[in-house]
Amino acid sequence: MSSKYNIPRGTFDILPEESYKWQYVTEIFRKIADYYNYREIVTPIFEVEELFERSVGDSTDIVQKEMYRFKDRKGRLLALRPEGTAPVVRSFVENNLDKKDNSSKLYYLGPMFRYDRPQKGRYRQFYQYGIENIGSNDPYIDAEVIAVGYDFLKKLGLKNFVLEINSIGCKNCTKIYDNALVNYFTPFLDSLCPDCKTRIRKNPKRLLDCKVPGCKKITQNAPSMLDYLDEECKQEFEQVQNYLNILEIPYKINPRIVRGLDYYNKTAFEYINNDLGAQDALLGGGRYDGLIEQFGGRDIPGVGFAGGFERLIFSMENENLSFGKQQTPDVFFVTLGEEAKKAGISLIAKVRKAEVSAENAPDKESLKAQMKAADKSKAKFSLILGQDELSQKKIILKNMENGQQELIEIDKFIEVIKKNIK
Ligand code: HAM
Repeated sequence: MSSKYNIPRGTFDILPEESYKWQYVTEIFRKIADYYNYREIVTPIFEVEELFERSVGDSTDIVQKEMYRFKDRKGRLLALRPEGTAPVVRSFVENNLDKKDNSSKLYYLGPMFRYDRPQKGRYRQFYQYGIENIGSNDPYIDAEVIAVGYDFLKKLGLKNFVLEINSIGCKNCTKIYDNALVNYFTPFLDSLCPDCKTRIRKNPKRLLDCKVPGCKKITQNAPSMLDYLDEECKQEFEQVQNYLNILEIPYKINPRIVRGLDYYNKTAFEYINNDLGAQDALLGGGRYDGLIEQFGGRDIPGVGFAGGFERLIFSMENENLSFGKQQTPDVFFVTLGEEAKKAGISLIAKVRKAEVSAENAPDKESLKAQMKAADKSKAKFSLILGQDELSQKKIILKNMENGQQELIEIDKFIEVIKKNIK
């Protein structure tokens, strides 16, 4: 068929043959979040535009180039959320979640939107899973947040990933480090890309993240953040590492991790999968002390991460991992003749109420056509009901895998099926 309309660039449909994979990874994520006592929070997919400008930062690529902005009918400036942290913190402050029980460890799932050049692993609508732990500045919490990510990836069976961590210091360290970066990059100003020429004024750390080959080369000898950490940040970073050691989570220190969002300070981390090519970050996160206060809340800290489901699923496919079983009906009803069809319809309703998944083919009449449909559905059993069986108050149960058949009492057929599908 050729459709009159095509899907917008950078988006994708999750088709029935793939959706079970998404259900599987989502389910595992919820489970891990539950083990760590995180509760789900759901926020709208659009927010006031300023929320992101002020938090993600108006000099970042996300806000400058990638945000979907629009005005509603009353002229309000809104944006499709490019990420989940700012909305969660907004909700945390707005709903005084700091005063409610079990509301400071939050997880979320859902679509995010960034107008970027689409490529494998990078989409304009993509799906994130994420957690935010608000209220503690104990470095153990940084390690625990990292552990949630680790447990999740491990539980899915992934092997080809590495954890990279860094500390980007607090405001005080940043000021000194930014100066050092400006001093380092200024002699190369003419060779920098146009974006980096602006970045050097607005946010020099962002230069370390530039993917343009010329800039990348220049950054090679740039000063390292780790040499500019003050005593407190240095100690906290060491403690995070100590806790990761206790938790037996292997990591690599990468002083180049700066993260593409402005709200970060201190711990920053990413799980990288080198098999993924250019879009190699499976998930990323860090600490964002100050953001809650910036949104009008108390001066309490926060730390979290988010990852994209698309890259995660690619990675699992690359490693040939299982996504559990694709959904198929337990039983398929095959009926012959008008009377049996009616009886079958009554039975199928009963079976479904008994929480057994059931299918039939009401538009097909012959045994052959219905058996073909049963085969195609990959049902585990078919239940065959003709005039003869009906008059005996019996039904044929056929095992679709080995072809074995038995005649069972209609009155007891739900019990028998339940036993068989266990
Ligand atoms: P982020 O690094 O911008 O951080 O995104 C997190 C993850 O989302 C990435 O590592 C990647 O897996 C996925 N991702 C990002 N952009 C795309 C895209 N265009 N297409 C597909 N996947 C993508 C954040 O969003 C922060 N809010 C994370 C965080 C939570 N930090 C603290 N708490």
